[in-house]
Amino acid sequence: MTLDLNAALAVADDLAHRAGALLLEALQHPRHISFKGAINLVTETDRQSEALIVGGLCEAFPDHHIVGEEGGGAGAPRESASFRWYVDPLDGTTNFAHGIPIFSVSIALAGPDDQPLLGVVYDPTRNECFRAVRGQGATLNGQPLHVSDISDLSQAALVTGFPYDRWTNPDNNIDTFVSFLMRAQAVGRMGSAALNLCYVAAGRFDAYWERRINPWDVMAGLLCVQEAGGRISNFQGQPDGVFQGREVVASNGLIHKQMLSVIVRGDAAPRPGKF
Ligand code: IPD
Ligand code: CA
Ligand code: CA
Repeated sequence: MTLDLNAALAVADDLAHRAGALLLEALQHPRHISFKGAINLVTETDRQSEALIVGGLCEAFPDHHIVGEEGGGAGAPRESASFRWYVDPLDGTTNFAHGIPIFSVSIALAGPDDQPLLGVVYDPTRNECFRAVRGQGATLNGQPLHVSDISDLSQAALVTGFPYDRWTNPDNNIDTFVSFLMRAQAVGRMGSAALNLCYVAAGRFDAYWERRINPWDVMAGLLCVQEAGGRISNFQGQPDGVFQGREVVASNGLIHKQMLSVIVRGDAAPRPGKF
């Protein structure tokens, strides 16, 4: 089955902008929060944004399947659909709920192999729209993107996130975070996985890692990194599971091995220079 990827990108782009405008408007008003877990929030606005995007995708692509973070599956049945959309209607809900203007809308289209074909990540606060189409490069507001050329971890600015079960699950990224703090120039935590990845694609961060996230968090951003010349893998340096978000390392390529070494070896990994 063939699909015009650039036409599909235009639909996703329009929906991401409309959803982004909805988020910005809602940020001006008190937010109604409920809990999916002890520290895993969802707001009415997450659901409204998802309804807008999923409704638009169903109308434009009735034979595609759609996976939305809040609503589960929609559109054609997953098994019979050649194409699957992954929608995060508000990536950075904790920030949004606190009125912190760092969040995004992330929409990706994958083929039957669940590998992304196109992705859009829209940051309404800065009016920055990151787009990628497989084999056609990545752009920010229409300008081509390229990853950074930092080759030494000690000069690198990194970014990560932490799983929502971190209070109870010891596999919570905290030890790895500390190991990187002692080896990199900076380690940030922005609160939007999709933006983290796009910032790697744009050369703002040099690498990102996270564990136990979901395909809607990472699929669009990972394609942006790949198309901007970066490298993506799981913690063993392989592609397995990376688009599903089980383990994600995305870098400019030059520091990828150093990233894997710290993730796998923790505090036993070499430290830079002398203090
Ligand atoms: C979360 C954000 C956060 C990441 C979490 C995600 P949500 O998505 O991307 O940066 O650390 O793992 O679940 O819940 O705000 O859509
Ligand atoms: Ca998310
Ligand atoms: Ca979300």
